[in-house]
Amino acid sequence: MARRALTIETPALLLHLDVVERNLERMAQRARRLGVALRPHAKTHKCPELGRRQLAHGAIGLTVATLAEAEAFVRAGFTDLTWALPIDPTHLPHARRLARRATLRVVTDDLDTARALAGSGLHVWLKVDCGYHRAGVDPESPYAMEVARELGREDGLTFDGLLSHSGHAYHTRTQAEAAAVAEQERLALSRFTQRLRTAGITVRGASAGSTPALSAATDLTGVTEARPGNYVFYDRTQVLIGCCEPDDVGVSVLATVVSHQPGGDHLVIDAGALALSKDTGPDHLDLPISFGAVRGHPSLTVASVSQEHGVVRGPPSSLEQFRVGDRMEIVPNHSCLTVAHYDQYHVMRDGRELDRWRIERGR
Ligand SMILES: Cc1ncc(COP(=O)(O)O)c(C=O)c1O
Repeated sequence: MARRALTIETPALLLHLDVVERNLERMAQRARRLGVALRPHAKTHKCPELGRRQLAHGAIGLTVATLAEAEAFVRAGFTDLTWALPIDPTHLPHARRLARRATLRVVTDDLDTARALAGSGLHVWLKVDCGYHRAGVDPESPYAMEVARELGREDGLTFDGLLSHSGHAYHTRTQAEAAAVAEQERLALSRFTQRLRTAGITVRGASAGSTPALSAATDLTGVTEARPGNYVFYDRTQVLIGCCEPDDVGVSVLATVVSHQPGGDHLVIDAGALALSKDTGPDHLDLPISFGAVRGHPSLTVASVSQEHGVVRGPPSSLEQFRVGDRMEIVPNHSCLTVAHYDQYHVMRDGRELDRWRIERGR
């Protein structure tokens, strides 16, 4: 039975199903057009119902950020997962246990770890730095070649190939800038693949990805799969960097006004740091600090947060319509971090609640 949104206790995480289904379909089409397989990052939604929809749209498997996420998805019946955080040897026993129940692909950029993986039976990607400068071997370096040689021996492991993450696509302002990052990532992967093949090392695949880079890429020759995650929901950051339109954002936080003093220059909602996260959005755009946008009220923003209070500021003419008990929807700055604060989605269509889906946020 559909329930009215009004009866949902706040703060609550709303999932707008029509928007999400459109996002899934568009990215699947885009990947097909670019000739790459999709292995979406499930850390954004942490939800088997959404993972199943991604597989139904043609994804070849999922990406996860933690072994706890991997456990949850294996329990839910998923059989092919890449754990995209570099593995260290202390996590090997757990990874091997999981790999008895599903194909688990791990990632490393470290020579000692590559040696420790010998005999593990695991699938392994070599993490490559494509310009983000977080993790990954410098593909031009002799060290990169050394780690690749070790993995390429395939001594009791399967070398899946090269994996990169173009996180610096978030530091862009336009689609054209994001397309340049996508091209930089493509070149890093395809040139290194070529060098390795020339050296006689078999490279089965090249896995790239971030939502803004994949959304802007025009050519992915040399890349075999992409791992966007955020695209399932997008968020205020993606709108501000030009990656999507406001109507593409598929989650929002339903909040209630809990304090509004007569003539006050702000009001308070029951969505603070633990309902929205403390992500401040794209700092490089030099915008006033904000922890989220108020849907349908462009002059209002969440200007500050404490643990459970959110302070909404804006012109008095926009604020004065709100009374204690009124509701508003907040568009989060970073949907992945916001989702991780909730146990369930309220799945919405046409203002009505259709269902509730569990969020697997165990650690
Ligand atoms: C290693 C890795 N791959 C893929 C992704 C997905 O990128 P996005 O969140 O832009 O979709 C992330 C996100 O942080 C990541 O860390």
